[in-house]
Amino acid sequence: MRFRHAVVTGGAGFLGSHLCTALLAEGTAVTCIDDLCTADEENIAHLRGQPAFTFTRADVREAFDVARPADLVLHLASPASPADYLKLPLHTLETGSLGTRNALALARRHGARLVLTSTSEVYGDPQQHPQSEDYWGHVNPVGPRSVYDEAKRFAEALTTAEAGVHGTDTGIVRLFNTYGPRMRGYDGRAVPTFIRQALAGEPLTVTGDGQQTRSLTYVDDTVRGVLAMAGSDLRGPVNIGNPQEITMLELARLVIRLTGSGSRVRMVERPTDDPTVRCPDITLARGKLQWEPRTPAEEGLARTIAWYRAPVAA
Ligand SMILES: NC(=O)c1ccc[n+]([C@@H]2O[C@H](COP(=O)([O-])OP(=O)(O)OC[C@H]3O[C@@H](n4cnc5c(N)ncnc54)[C@H](O)[C@@H]3O)[C@@H](O)[C@H]2O)c1
Repeated sequence: MRFRHAVVTGGAGFLGSHLCTALLAEGTAVTCIDDLCTADEENIAHLRGQPAFTFTRADVREAFDVARPADLVLHLASPASPADYLKLPLHTLETGSLGTRNALALARRHGARLVLTSTSEVYGDPQQHPQSEDYWGHVNPVGPRSVYDEAKRFAEALTTAEAGVHGTDTGIVRLFNTYGPRMRGYDGRAVPTFIRQALAGEPLTVTGDGQQTRSLTYVDDTVRGVLAMAGSDLRGPVNIGNPQEITMLELARLVIRLTGSGSRVRMVERPTDDPTVRCPDITLARGKLQWEPRTPAEEGLARTIAWYRAPVAA
């Protein structure tokens, strides 16, 4: 389905900038709303000259609107990396709550479909593996990660209630770790950290014994999943992630090999409440959205490494 005008909150961020690019390529006009609290305007520099692209610097914790009718709202605004949300705990909670309320109000006023980008973090340190959408999670409500996990859980609850009370057309996707060009080297997530360290010839810092697993999805695949959800009438939540797990130690070794780096691995202390396993059950996405990841880890990592060596605007 082609949309006429999409509002993308958090559109100047890593994932948002790729979504803005993909929507414009499909012929959809895009208004990107972002307060740039965790993003670099460089991320959208390549879109600035396009007449169908508008950037508005605004904080979604305050009510906002757009001048032209919108038929899609992709609500991404939220600090997303642990380094960011630990630095911005109240901002993160307020963006998940007030920001989501304001994005839903915008969608309701315009009669637009809203897709909330939730996260696998709603599963916490899961006791069910792999995680399907009907698993309720194992989350510490007062731990250091709670500001993000609970903000997203509240945003899911609010989105669900909005659809029930006002009939607003909403969808929820639970994204698992996504990586690719434009992730910031110091944002604390494993892929950019390992690539930055490998390219600098520094040791790759693997936490704990490195046996904790993650599911890593290349950004183009995640973008395809979010847009498939936007074009559907599903309410979700729907998991979007790669069911192939990789341990942090395997990932570090793969990055060393693909960069040709002489770096070694250094084991460091594991952060509090760091999940041990994380792997989506994507039966729902496969069945209802005909979505599954296509990019093998080696290929996605090679493309990401190439960007870190020579960042290009597009
Ligand atoms: N990248 C992933 O692996 C991943 C995984 C799960 C979920 N998600 C979700 O996807 C979304 C985007 O994540 P990302 O990785 O691109 O992170 P990011 O930090 O690169 O992007 C988030 C964007 O939101 C903006 N923002 C934050 N608070 C705001 C506010 N109050 N008002 C306006 N803008 C605000 C930031 O400036 C930034 O541009 C987030 O909602 C995140 O929770 C991402």
